[in-house]
Amino acid sequence: MRATGFFYALMELLQRCVAVLNKNRRGNFTIPSPRLYPFQWNWDSGFIAMGHLHDKPSLALTELEALFNGQWENGFLPHIVFYHEENYKTYFPSADYWNAKVNAPNPLKTSGITQPPVHGYVLEALFNAGVDKNRLTSLFKKVLRYHNYLYKNREFNNSGLVAIWHNWESGMDNSPWWDAVFDTIRDEDLENIALNRKDVLEVEESSLTRPKNIDYKKYLYLINLLKKQHYLSISSDYPFQIIDPVFNAILIRSNRSLINLGKKLGINTTFIEQKQAIGLNHFNEYLFDDLSNLYFPYNIKQGKQIKIECSGSYLPVFAGIPDKSKVIEMMDKQINQPDTMMFPSCAPYEPGFEKKNYWRGPVWINMNWMIWKGLLDYGLYHKAELLKTQTIDLVKKYGIFEYFPPFKNSDDTKGLGGADFSWTAALIIDMIKN
Ligand code: GLC
Repeated sequence: MRATGFFYALMELLQRCVAVLNKNRRGNFTIPSPRLYPFQWNWDSGFIAMGHLHDKPSLALTELEALFNGQWENGFLPHIVFYHEENYKTYFPSADYWNAKVNAPNPLKTSGITQPPVHGYVLEALFNAGVDKNRLTSLFKKVLRYHNYLYKNREFNNSGLVAIWHNWESGMDNSPWWDAVFDTIRDEDLENIALNRKDVLEVEESSLTRPKNIDYKKYLYLINLLKKQHYLSISSDYPFQIIDPVFNAILIRSNRSLINLGKKLGINTTFIEQKQAIGLNHFNEYLFDDLSNLYFPYNIKQGKQIKIECSGSYLPVFAGIPDKSKVIEMMDKQINQPDTMMFPSCAPYEPGFEKKNYWRGPVWINMNWMIWKGLLDYGLYHKAELLKTQTIDLVKKYGIFEYFPPFKNSDDTKGLGGADFSWTAALIIDMIKN
């Protein structure tokens, strides 16, 4: 009986997830969440495609094709593609604020920064699902051009590791990881920056759950500096220059998929193979901390790691980077936390932790999903299963939200941030179907 009840609950959750993806579809792409994010987002669409993969693989291709319509002439892939001009007024900063022109597509509008490159990984999963080869090949070439852009424009000191230029490029917007960088921006730099935020109108308890206005001004300050260079380059004194272990682990994981696929499709990937080897050689040197057995971002300007434990500290597991024995140690540390769900975006014992605030504590399903995929690749099935069960339980308990309370004994009854969040739905579909 119990098993049957469990099965029905799971099937019911599956149906609700499918309904969210259907509801959020706008023609050939899917918005991350109604009202809060009314356009197409970069890594969101990669995750969303994973949700379509099982039953509608052709729709997964359509999702990625729509995203790559926003690709720039230099291969850069923006973090937002602003389809549906009628929504410009409902989002800030919108297409006009970004004003991306050089290299950018026209008339389609985009932002001028990017997000973690998960699409190569997704393409390999789509290939394995047997999608149309011509469509897949054409997407493959676009993803390859995007990776080439990253190495040609963002590589740090021939390390095979690439830099991000904005906190939004990490996808983990207000992570405590970025606090030290933002502390270097002076109040007088922010005097002329006007805010017209819409996000705070769309979520409950926004003062506790979203970035603060002062933070937002700093994000825009960086955008304004980048805009002056048409988003193509930075000056050496530009404040935000980070080697993010999350961005780089995802790049390395996707490279591996592209290299595999290249062989199957008969397309040369030598350039990526070379960069991959160099990046793997330097990953631990720059980003691993022996003492804590965790990964941290490297602040290029300060020449040192940012030693704060976040969910991203575990993400290199997705790319198979740490040795298996290290992975076991890392995971046991997290599994043995009596009060915390896996994986809080910031560890509760860190000073920057805030239990409801966005990337400063809550659990995000995409991070759990990537770590879960990594554990499966290591053959750590028991740990993978534990993580999968906890992740599905969170969504069962709190709904298909953007992020989740990190404590086991939380008195919250609902999830946090945007409701009907697409990547939560998509990745739970993938977890259930696996
Ligand atoms: C938030 C998240 C980012 C995501 C976007 C759209 O900004 O931090 O990772 O891509 O919302 O869902």
